[in-house]
Amino acid sequence: MRIFSGNSNRQLALAIAQSLDQRLGEMTCSRFPDGEIKVQIHDDVRGADVFIIQSTHTNEFLMETLIIADAMKRASAARITCVLPYYGYARQDRKHDGRVPITAKLVANLFTTAGIDRVLAVDLHAIQIQGFFDIQMDHLSALPVLVDYLKQDDLENPVVLSPDTGSIKVADKTAKLLGANLAIIDKRRTGDSQTEVANVIGEVKNCDVVIMDDMISTAGSMVNAIVTARERGARRVIPVTSHPILCGSAYERLSAVNLDELVVSDTIPLKRRFADLPITVLSVAPLLGEAIHRIHTNRSVSSLII
Ligand code: R5P
Repeated sequence: MRIFSGNSNRQLALAIAQSLDQRLGEMTCSRFPDGEIKVQIHDDVRGADVFIIQSTHTNEFLMETLIIADAMKRASAARITCVLPYYGYARQDRKHDGRVPITAKLVANLFTTAGIDRVLAVDLHAIQIQGFFDIQMDHLSALPVLVDYLKQDDLENPVVLSPDTGSIKVADKTAKLLGANLAIIDKRRTGDSQTEVANVIGEVKNCDVVIMDDMISTAGSMVNAIVTARERGARRVIPVTSHPILCGSAYERLSAVNLDELVVSDTIPLKRRFADLPITVLSVAPLLGEAIHRIHTNRSVSSLII
């Protein structure tokens, strides 16, 4: 087994390697003067079972993934597994309008073209994206890690609030794991990063409200949900997400709502400017380490899937 990391989430890759008593493979992933990506693998990978750990939350990191995989293939790796703590471009997963692409499928095709043999992903934006890959795919969730943490807190009248109808499934799963009720915000999008709340289905008054979304991008949806829950009399509000993309106005928006705590996983590293916000980061490294071990030894990963 050989574990390699691109530049997207080296800290998580190191933690995964450590959990497996492995070292990260030696590789240079730098840039040519014009910005093109330059990769050279320094370890011998001929005949090896290679795992590339890389979140694809930017175009650069997606391109790095493809180029690293190509280098592995040309260096005669026996099998290349791409471990995707976060799979980007997943939100465009159907033609919701005329003349738009399906990027979730396009990127899956690019992975295959680059020589990737199998994928291990965490919390895909929509579970059916599994079927967009014509290669073997294992799909895990950060939810057990997030829920175990929430269970340590004595939540009173816990309710899991879905910030929009698209996140109902993940919120419902969280509610079931927590033994909590479910509430839903009927969110209306007014622009790419602008949303407004239309309605709330379910009761949040005097409840400890866990707001669960698969990702926080510009934080518009999450902040709307936080404000709504408070306005409707929530006792405490705990926003939770698997993927803290945190881009655009996320910092300003989250700073403005005076958070008690935001709970995230480490599928995407936090940018330095978020250090002064009360963010709890929980690691998916043990989960991914265990899955990698089972894939390498040809053992079932079913018990890790919720
Ligand atoms: C929507 O489909 C997703 O589950 C998230 O709610 C959304 O992508 C979050 O985006 P933002 O943080 O920009 O509102």
